[in-house]
Amino acid sequence: MKALLIGGGGREHAIGLSILKSGTELVVISPNRNPGLMRIAKEVIIGNENDKELVLENALRVEPDYVFIGPEAPLASGVSDILFENNLKVFAPSSSAARLETSKAFCRRFMTENRLEGNIESTSFSDPVKAKDFIEQIDYDFVIKPDGLTGGKGVMVQGVHFLTKKEGIEIAQDYLLSENQTLLIEKKVKGEEFSLQGFVHDTEIVFLPIVQDYKRAFEDDKGPNTGGMGAICFSERGLPFIDPKTVLEAKAILKQLITRFSEKVVDYVGPIFGGFIATAEGPKLLEINARLGDPEAMNALSLTKNSIMDIAVSMLHNKVPKLEFENKINVLRYLVPKGYGTKSVPSTIQLDEEALMLKGIKTFYASVNLKGKMLEQTSSRSLALLSEGEDLEEVNGRFDDLSSMIKGEYSMRNDIGTEMMIEKKKNFMNSLTGGRA
Ligand code: GLY
Repeated sequence: MKALLIGGGGREHAIGLSILKSGTELVVISPNRNPGLMRIAKEVIIGNENDKELVLENALRVEPDYVFIGPEAPLASGVSDILFENNLKVFAPSSSAARLETSKAFCRRFMTENRLEGNIESTSFSDPVKAKDFIEQIDYDFVIKPDGLTGGKGVMVQGVHFLTKKEGIEIAQDYLLSENQTLLIEKKVKGEEFSLQGFVHDTEIVFLPIVQDYKRAFEDDKGPNTGGMGAICFSERGLPFIDPKTVLEAKAILKQLITRFSEKVVDYVGPIFGGFIATAEGPKLLEINARLGDPEAMNALSLTKNSIMDIAVSMLHNKVPKLEFENKINVLRYLVPKGYGTKSVPSTIQLDEEALMLKGIKTFYASVNLKGKMLEQTSSRSLALLSEGEDLEEVNGRFDDLSSMIKGEYSMRNDIGTEMMIEKKKNFMNSLTGGRA
């Protein structure tokens, strides 16, 4: 069997490794010379992953049995559509189904019209005056969310990114005047976020263990939002600060949404990602992504015994695979260019991957280009280090003393998955729920 994978980040490196588990031959279309993918693929075609003609031309030449699409942008630009039209088997949603991610306003409208559980009060605006009038009369803290794709970096939260209504109005109006795009004003909800990923075929859905992404650029969850600085997963044990009942309810919300969507709008095929927040009133859906998360895919797929290839083959043949997971926990920390989150200053780094491996750390390569033995950073995340084991002490201990193995200028959050951060999150949830969670 042969698989074609589109994308060249850390998530795609993890998907590629998972495909390989089934003994499948891998061909990749990637915008960058990702050393991880170049090592495991038979062929890496360097090219624009959003160029549907380029992807089609290569797919017709490669003749894959199945196609996997990692990022969201190729879905939005019609790559999955053109592959479906040419009778290729694609384990990813059409652009129409991916509207659940590519338009936050569409997703909220769909949830509201179908009275789905887990929704959040939300109103969309394209007129700056109407947005201002609306904000002036609401009596709750709010979140400003661009309607379209922002790579996880566009959401502005009151109390975090701005304080007063006046500041929020300025942000909303500036955005509407400069970007010519719709935005949403949503009620701010308090709680701990978690990512629920799975795989869908029509109304069937199988779930991966929940993961928590550390979105903020700096330690102690400070600084601007990023695509994700790292993530933790405790496999089927769940996360220590999220009530298992909340996870069951989140699964029911996602299942209900996908079932209703496939019945009323269009069939959904492929990976799905529910960005949830656990609140005192149960889980609320913050967003849907029509793909796996980055970094969340690396945590979850690393603990999944099944190959994503076997999952896709089963689901596309209307069978529901039984997923099995390692009973371990893992912590992932992304190494990023200095200034990432505000203004990246890419440089060149050198990595002793063998020494990291001997220490028990897996490396996933992301937006870097291999040049000789050096890794040239781009403005995006460079590579992810994943440590896996029985408990946090074992897992986190491996991140000590890495300086001899990684040379060059970079930033990394050293608090991801620490006992201190986990205790803080437990205490926060206890304070919200009065200890019921
Ligand atoms: N880490 C969040 C995302 O992939 O959207």
